[in-house]
Amino acid sequence: MARSASALVAGFLLLLTLLTLDAAQGQQPFPPTDPSDADALHAVFRQWRLEGEAAAEDPCMKRVWSGSFEINASIDCNCPAISRCQITGLNVTGYKNITEIPLALFNLTELVSMHFNNNNLSGSFPHESSLLRNLKSLWIFDNNVEGLIPEFIQNFTSLTDLYA
Ligand SMILES: *[C@@H]1O[C@H](CO)[C@@H](O)[C@H](O)[C@H]1NC(C)=O
Ligand SMILES: *[C@@H]1O[C@H](CO)[C@@H](O)[C@H](O)[C@H]1NC(C)=O
Ligand SMILES: *[C@@H]1O[C@H](CO)[C@@H](O)[C@H](O)[C@H]1NC(C)=O
Ligand SMILES: *[C@@H]1O[C@H](CO)[C@@H](O)[C@H](O)[C@H]1NC(C)=O
Ligand SMILES: *[C@@H]1O[C@H](CO)[C@@H](O)[C@H](O)[C@H]1NC(C)=O
Ligand SMILES: *[C@@H]1O[C@H](CO)[C@@H](O)[C@H](O)[C@H]1NC(C)=O
Repeated sequence: MARSASALVAGFLLLLTLLTLDAAQGQQPFPPTDPSDADALHAVFRQWRLEGEAAAEDPCMKRVWSGSFEINASIDCNCPAISRCQITGLNVTGYKNITEIPLALFNLTELVSMHFNNNNLSGSFPHESSLLRNLKSLWIFDNNVEGLIPEFIQNFTSLTDLYA
């Protein structure tokens, strides 16, 4: 009698635990990506066709799309408590099929670091690049943008680490 009662209690506790876990999974464990940043990143990755089936995922919860010796696609986020996450770093390197920077990227105005080396970018940086006022680090070596750096760099007023 006592045994079946304790089995019942154990079963009930197990059920309660499962229900609690289920409820916790339905919630965002930390602040989601700022909607403007999320839209911009989705638009950029859509144009580069990097998202695949994960298109709907919250960028700051995902963070890494690809990380290997040859190709990297990842972001860094700053998530101040009770506020939203903002995208502060973007590494997209080693993609020989990436030839242009989508304009949507310049909506990521909190970017501090942007590594774009070893892609196949060509042409100049558009005027919108002046929106990246916080950018400190820019790596664009091993692309086709030689000779275009002196012009656009004047608008990156925070830049301390340029590797071109
Ligand atoms: C970028 O920002 C502009 C101006 O706020 C807005 O009109 C546009 O929809 C944004 N684009 C994306 C892809 O977020
Ligand atoms: C570029 O190549 C990667 C694989 O290396 C692929 O996932 C992506 O869809 C390609 N993007 C474009 C624009 O073709
Ligand atoms: C970007 O690359 C740099 C240099 O390899 C690394 O220090 C940084 O952690 C990377 N950031 C992300 C978001 O992957
Ligand atoms: C990708 O990231 C890894 C680890 O940070 C690094 O060793 C590698 O050089 C990166 N690949 C490219 C193409 O930048
Ligand atoms: C780089 O892009 C150009 C077009 O701008 C293309 O002709 C070339 O094949 C690309 N290089 C590689 C290695 O994919
Ligand atoms: C720098 O930014 C200003 C203001 O947005 C713009 O008019 C100018 O064309 C930019 N210069 C370059 C070289 O991109």
